[in-house]
Amino acid sequence: MKVVRTKKALAAALAPVLKNNQSIGLVPTMGALHAGHLSLVSKALSENDKVVVSIFINPTQFNNAADLAAYPAGLTADAALLKNLSDSILIFAPTAQEMYPEGLESKVFDFKGLDMYWEGADRPGHFNGVGTVVEKLFRAVPAQKAYFGEKDFQQLAIIRQLVLDLDWPIEIIGCPIVREANGLAMSSRNERLSETAREQAAVIYQTLLRCQKDLKYHEIAALKNTALEKLSSCPGLKVHYFEFVRAHDLKPIVSKATSDPIRLLIAVSLGGVRLIDNIAI
Ligand code: PAJ
Repeated sequence: MKVVRTKKALAAALAPVLKNNQSIGLVPTMGALHAGHLSLVSKALSENDKVVVSIFINPTQFNNAADLAAYPAGLTADAALLKNLSDSILIFAPTAQEMYPEGLESKVFDFKGLDMYWEGADRPGHFNGVGTVVEKLFRAVPAQKAYFGEKDFQQLAIIRQLVLDLDWPIEIIGCPIVREANGLAMSSRNERLSETAREQAAVIYQTLLRCQKDLKYHEIAALKNTALEKLSSCPGLKVHYFEFVRAHDLKPIVSKATSDPIRLLIAVSLGGVRLIDNIAI
């Protein structure tokens, strides 16, 4: 299991792969790996000769210093989990200095409005930080495919836009959400939930499923009312947004009379931990 810390060492490790015309798959992560991340890595292993997993807690995408400070880190445990999947994985775990030699600045991207809503509105600068680091990773890792989770549905849309914008020769593979037994979408942040909150958080997916099922009987406004009532009955839970959107541009929709694919997006805080989820309707 090889871990490289610098772009130079990364290039040296990938030189033989490129020389042999082998394919490279990239899985960008911020570490604290769980089964959701590992599902991306497994898919990448099944589709590429070489898989690079980047582990980098990207400071520029945190608009809140406390959130950054509280983000879990543990390279040894992450490497052990990856080794279990395959010894051939290359881990790229750079320092902030290596990724941002000129200081922690984000580029400003034109995401064609995709960043105006939801996470973008709640976390100013977040997606410019994501775009900045993902562009840097694309430049460092000559991959043909990169893997991202639908868990961060807006991020996935933004990465697809970034690739168009940069005209970057890479295929973006979206991967389904992996959930805990009670339906809670897996997230590194779940570790910060108390045992009770973790159980209560099941209400998020239950609510999404109910809306998915009931859309054929009710209009969106009625579904939202019932859902928000259910969510607000959960102690300590605060809803940041709960919206039916058009899957392609994430604009809110008010009527189900549309031929566009619909996605239901939600963000809540529970016991001070921000959780996001979504479902195809
Ligand atoms: P991170 O939160 O570590 O997530 C890394 C990748 O794993 C993302 O593509 C995310 O959508 C995916 N993922 C997380 N939880 C998942 C789950 N339960 N099911 C399926 N996929 C899941 O997202 C980031 O890091 C960063 O923003 C990054 C893209 C690495 C840029 O810094």
